[in-house]
Amino acid sequence: MTSPTTPAPAPVWLPAWEAADGAARVRALFTATFDAEPAGTFSAPGRVNLIGEHTDYNGGLALPIAIEHRTWAAVSLREDSRVRLVSAQGQGVWECDLDEVAPGTVQGWGAYLAGVAWALRQSGRTVPGFEVAVDSCVPFGAGLSSSAALEASLAIGLDSLLGLGLGGDDEGRVVLAAACVRAENEIAGAATGGMDQAASLRARDGFALALDCLDSSVHHEPFAPEGCELLVIDTRAPHSLNDGQYASRRATCDAAAEALGVPTLRHWLDAAEGGVDGAVAAADAVLTDDVARRRVRHVLTEIDRTRRAHVAMRAGDWGAFGVLMDASHTSLRDDYEVTVPELDVAVEAARAAGALGARMTGGGFGGSSIALVPAGTSAAVADAVVAAYADHGFGAPAFLTSRAAGPAA
Ligand code: GLA
Repeated sequence: MTSPTTPAPAPVWLPAWEAADGAARVRALFTATFDAEPAGTFSAPGRVNLIGEHTDYNGGLALPIAIEHRTWAAVSLREDSRVRLVSAQGQGVWECDLDEVAPGTVQGWGAYLAGVAWALRQSGRTVPGFEVAVDSCVPFGAGLSSSAALEASLAIGLDSLLGLGLGGDDEGRVVLAAACVRAENEIAGAATGGMDQAASLRARDGFALALDCLDSSVHHEPFAPEGCELLVIDTRAPHSLNDGQYASRRATCDAAAEALGVPTLRHWLDAAEGGVDGAVAAADAVLTDDVARRRVRHVLTEIDRTRRAHVAMRAGDWGAFGVLMDASHTSLRDDYEVTVPELDVAVEAARAAGALGARMTGGGFGGSSIALVPAGTSAAVADAVVAAYADHGFGAPAFLTSRAAGPAA
């Protein structure tokens, strides 16, 4: 505990880079590393999920926005099948032969990029080797989809340089997003559900992406909350989606759906009588394990909350939206058990400082919380979070704000 006389440190803010700055950085890194000019520079955003967490791999609904923080990639194609990658955040050049990439053959950050090319090949496209330099202002391991931004920046780059014609419309971007998901699931070994790649490739500037993961359909909902702003709190608590916890949540849901005799938990919700309460009660009657019951209760109620949050968003009812954010966090904390104390304290401090609603965003187990706060109060809410972290003896968090930004380009 700090004494009342110890002032809390000033909040650390993570600004998004200007587009010209991001492009210049990767051009310079490319030239310095590969001694040539890149054929093109591309970028893709991280995301904040406003609500609808751990629903994507259950055929559910999610409501993310792309953020202004992006990953840049300078890319050139090669005539052979070599892949050579350099990152401003890494050390040295990461190399492999694309012909040898297969599940289980490559490790490290380069797997996310080599995996995209591998997946495009798997979908029947001819993809040669390439050189890439990347740099990013999406904080790593912050639950803001730095890996999807990395994948999408190359996917859109290969699409453009190879003339695949996929980036020009949403139908093509669905194909690019699917390649990024395969890269992450099969080559990088993280069993994630696809929401992040959809947000990075299919979002629209100024809109939230209402994503239906049952059929991958999207609806673009204007998102510029009047009288409010979105504050993102990067807890800086360690976060990883391939350490088994995420996969174990997913496995529990898959097993529950099988026990309930449905392809996904979304099917169970939609078929149940008596709405979400009826669906939860009916699942409780079939499932014998208390943990499975709580996991399923989270998924069913979260899909229902996301549906209602979309309605509140459309009506501009930010008070109602905030209440649903709060309920989402409680469910993720108590039923799905994916929060950590740093996420909970950020949410509680933000609410106490006037947020309309606050919740963790992304996979959890570390990462970021978000708060919908009255316009002009982000700095004061950040001060309150910093003070609460100091009181709890946590390391300093970092903060960012974002509007709903545009997709990979
Ligand atoms: C991570 C995964 C997503 C999704 C969220 C939880 O961000 O990458 O697919 O499952 O967790 O909603």
